[in-house]
Amino acid sequence: IMGSNLSITVVGASGDLAKKKIFPALFALYYEDCLPENFIIFGYARTKMTTEELRNMISETLTCRIDKRENCEDKMDQFLKRCFYHSGQYNSEGDFSLLDRKLKEKEGGMISNRLFYLSVPPNLFVDVVRSASHKASSENGWTRVIVEKPFGRDSESSSELTRCLKQYLNEDQIFRIDHYLGKELVENLSVLRFSNLVFEPLWSRNYIRNVQLIFSEDFGTEGRGGYFDNYGIIRDIMQNHLLQILALFAMETPVSLDAEDIRNEKIASLFQKLTLIMIQSVGDHTKFLNWINETIANDPTVPNGSLTPTFAAAALFIANARWDGVPFLMKAGKALHTKRAEIRVQFRHVPGNLYKRNFGTDLDKATNELVLRVQPDEAIYLKINNKVPGLGMRLDRSDLNLLYRARYPREIPDAYERLLLDAIEGERRLFIRSDELDAAWALFTPLLKELENKKIAPELYPYGSRGPVGAHYLAAKHNVRWGDLGNED
Ligand code: BG6
Repeated sequence: IMGSNLSITVVGASGDLAKKKIFPALFALYYEDCLPENFIIFGYARTKMTTEELRNMISETLTCRIDKRENCEDKMDQFLKRCFYHSGQYNSEGDFSLLDRKLKEKEGGMISNRLFYLSVPPNLFVDVVRSASHKASSENGWTRVIVEKPFGRDSESSSELTRCLKQYLNEDQIFRIDHYLGKELVENLSVLRFSNLVFEPLWSRNYIRNVQLIFSEDFGTEGRGGYFDNYGIIRDIMQNHLLQILALFAMETPVSLDAEDIRNEKIASLFQKLTLIMIQSVGDHTKFLNWINETIANDPTVPNGSLTPTFAAAALFIANARWDGVPFLMKAGKALHTKRAEIRVQFRHVPGNLYKRNFGTDLDKATNELVLRVQPDEAIYLKINNKVPGLGMRLDRSDLNLLYRARYPREIPDAYERLLLDAIEGERRLFIRSDELDAAWALFTPLLKELENKKIAPELYPYGSRGPVGAHYLAAKHNVRWGDLGNED
């Protein structure tokens, strides 16, 4: 009986993503015994490098889990022995034939599945896929390709990319990564909703006033100005990461946990019913909140006079029975005072609250809020009103707090580990299907076009600030206060 082998080729092996995320994730999978017994890894890039040099490069970035240090060095050595390098052009079928030959040599006649990770800029996707599928596809097992955004920059360019990729691959061979779907708390969102009795009944307009999806980073576009200037924060974070979280948050119960059922549900209950409104802080006719950080505006890697936003906020509504009228507010920004990603759910006021006078006139202070902190320091907490112990009747706000580091004192796997493992196992639940991608672009493209056509100049905000004040106007317009800027946390 022939054994089987897994060959993983990291195309763009000398790049940043490969070094920082992909090789370390592959090592972690190896370390956790998640890779098949027979596997090899090839790095492929234009840079001339020997296998030895690749191993040295990779070895610098490998780490072992804090709680699993034993045999770490040995494991690293064994892992590195399975890593090889092949240098070639991305559009050369000849170079991919040579890769194929080397792969075959190492696969030693076994049934071999091949996974290609495209860690290259998007303008090279089609070249690589053409050459790899023609010359280096598996002859007796599956061939899969992982790609990562940007998938185009609007509806047209995205469908064009999909069309080109599908000349060489079937949809079920394409694994489109949105790495936020691999984050622990994002995966847990469905567990929280669908396996607890206490949340799902509250999950609608009857109890929820608004939902906030917040992304902030405490650094700017440093070094990535060239890429970023062509995309901007709306394409970089909102159209994918935040919209995906929103989809999981708001979708109806899927028929099963099957990938197709989940993705069908995301589309059916959401993308067809979603409208996006962005409102500028001043003036009613323009539809955009558009801000740029002033330091970034002067970043030498960003072209002068750039109008590309580094901060944006948006209000979205879902026209279905569950969510009619509930604002879903998103904000995403770079160069802010903190690094954080979270989902905040603000519940309605208690009708006829007996303790009203304990809160003065500000009933907002008394609303329950459920927070899922995706990062850093993963947590789920529910803000409740509670009697301060003692003889008087004083209330305060407390948290029912599930702090991951206290409850699960082990390292949480990086998103790329989960996603790579899923791709190897053919589990598509956390990958973006092409119709989902189309729907996400259909939602954002008209507004992005308007923003660019009208050359709407962004307002500036200082580096390291809490973001532009207009974000408050947007929220206020929908009767919302941003939960992350309160006094409590
Ligand atoms: C990427 C964006 O998709 O996500 C980056 O292109 C951003 O601009 C990054 O910094 C954030 O990911 P994480 O996992 O560090 O929150």
